Amino acid sequence: MVGESYDVEVGRVAHGGHFVARLPEDAPEVGGTVVFVRHALPGELVTVRLTEGEVGDRFLRGDAVEVHRASVDRVAPPCSYAGPGLCGGCDFQHVELSAQRRLKEEVVREQLARLAGLDLPVEVEAVPGDDRGLRWRTRMRFHRTSSGGLGLREHRSRSIVEVDDCLIQAPGARVAIEGETATGDEVVVETVRDRAFEVAADGFWQVHLGAPEALLSAVLDAAGVRPGDRVLDLYSGVGLFTAFLAEAVGVTGHVTAVEGDRGATEHAGANLAAYPWVEPVRGSVDRVLESMTGDGAWDVVVLDPPREGARRPVVEGIVRLEPRTVVHVACDPSSFARDVALFAEHGYRLSAARAFDLFPMTQHVEVVGTFSAR
Ligand SMILES: C[S@@+](CC[C@H](N)C(=O)[O-])C[C@H]1O[C@@H](n2cnc3c(N)ncnc32)[C@H](O)[C@@H]1O
Repeated sequence: MVGESYDVEVGRVAHGGHFVARLPEDAPEVGGTVVFVRHALPGELVTVRLTEGEVGDRFLRGDAVEVHRASVDRVAPPCSYAGPGLCGGCDFQHVELSAQRRLKEEVVREQLARLAGLDLPVEVEAVPGDDRGLRWRTRMRFHRTSSGGLGLREHRSRSIVEVDDCLIQAPGARVAIEGETATGDEVVVETVRDRAFEVAADGFWQVHLGAPEALLSAVLDAAGVRPGDRVLDLYSGVGLFTAFLAEAVGVTGHVTAVEGDRGATEHAGANLAAYPWVEPVRGSVDRVLESMTGDGAWDVVVLDPPREGARRPVVEGIVRLEPRTVVHVACDPSSFARDVALFAEHGYRLSAARAFDLFPMTQHVEVVGTFSAR
């Protein structure tokens, strides 16, 4: 069945960088089955070639290999490695940039509606200065190809496509090669608002050139931190948000920064040395929260968890502290929406949400949500 082709009408965008269609009712064995189509756009009439799935599956996957009626939002992909069977790094190279953001808005809205029962339109904002969606990625990880070149993976595959020039790679990006680049003690220095942050060369740092500033200003606006506040910065990395939260609370305030990675916590110690009212803590966020008391001692909590989101133990650990405001930075709208529902269970309503196009040409989007106690 994989490899068979059908003409379909393409429907809405779905989370994951694909679009929902149904195979023709008269297709033998798979008639009417939902298929997630990549390289398509809503309203298009395309030939989809199936790439994954079996008879009886709830849904199949496929690529649009021919477009019979194109959307007005379709453009020629700037990258020659984007397309069915080619590099899987980008999902939306064939989509005009502002239309990519509208697709991400639909995804965020749909996830919030379906998983949190909220009808909240969220605008996806461009990173200031990013008007092409290219040359933004400051960290790249390539694979060595059999012919000795560098390449990137195909979509949902271990196969490598040789890539001479990745158009989303920023000039001067840090380049690592899987299995070859030593992961060790190398440290790089990143600068945000004239403040230097040391970070391990293979450690976490926001990947879009403009992401640290865009996220930082969104977090500071949302947190509404006042001098003297006590702030908890969870999943704090090397202390990007912590440093500026520390400045906002001032010497009469306090910030505890919780991070699980040993190297990141050590770098945070150095990056935050100018603020003796900051306490960097190494530990798993859920366990550190468990050990804290809910005596109203925390005014604001900021959290920036990995893709899977905060989940119940962490959300419950946060609400138990009864902060005035919670700011949630999320790189997956689906796990974000699940966390929104958990916060709501405990009386913390999503009072504002902004989204940022930190990963142009890909399906990914970053959301910053603000919660306040009801
Ligand atoms: C998305 S990064 C955010 C870092 C930081 N806010 C920044 O902008 O640079 C998430 C961080 O959470 C850390 N982390 C992941 N799971 C954790 C856990 N269960 N407990 C503590 N830290 C965790 C990772 O090591 C990583 O540094």
